[in-house]
Amino acid sequence: MLITFEGIDGSGKSTCIGSIAEHLKSLGHAVVMTREIGGTPLAENLRTLILHQPMDVQTEVQLAFAARRDHLTQVIAPALAAGAVVLCDRFTDSTFAYQGAGRGCDWSWIESLERQIQANCHPERSDWITPDRTLWFDVSPETAAARMYASRGGATDRFEAEDVLFFERVRQGYVRRRQQFPERFCRIDASQPKESVWEAVYLAIEGTMASAQNRKSSPRNGEEAR
Ligand code: TYD
Repeated sequence: MLITFEGIDGSGKSTCIGSIAEHLKSLGHAVVMTREIGGTPLAENLRTLILHQPMDVQTEVQLAFAARRDHLTQVIAPALAAGAVVLCDRFTDSTFAYQGAGRGCDWSWIESLERQIQANCHPERSDWITPDRTLWFDVSPETAAARMYASRGGATDRFEAEDVLFFERVRQGYVRRRQQFPERFCRIDASQPKESVWEAVYLAIEGTMASAQNRKSSPRNGEEAR
């Protein structure tokens, strides 16, 4: 099972993932925790370039997918084949949100790359790999910016340095992806106090694991965790 975590910078998603990993391990699951852009030595090098080197958006998309291909073939696909739960901090929805909605890159071009790059990543899988579940930490760009400032004292890379209007477009990108994939997306209201956010995340994860154990039960469409 591949579970991804999405949201604008400052949404608070990254701080949750470690504790979810520990929780799932304590329940006896094999867990792999990873992130994009990154997750392999090559992809981490590409991350440094993408986050700090000025480039046009098509270059950005292709480097993100190059990193993703390496990450899928080296880490994600083998872990899924071995039966692990993979928790990934960001995945392709970020490319749609940041490069597609945020920077105006052609949506259907990203869709075609998604299908090509995420296919045939493992000898046992001819299908293309997409997340089974996506927890989307939804928060206003203003709240996210205030949090980022409080925790890091401001921006540290090319994306964090963007303005509120950029992040509003990115947020709309997530809205669009959720409309396309309501069964997969679970919206977490990340403007709530931290304790309530965590409670919503745990509920969503429990629901995901329960439905995985009983594949016959229908998925929870477009739910809103609170
Ligand atoms: P993130 O790991 O959330 O940053 P941090 O470690 O600073 O919390 O993400 C790094 C940045 O990469 C984030 O601003 C979004 C961006 N990004 C893209 O623009 N496209 C992508 O496809 C991915 C995966 C990330």
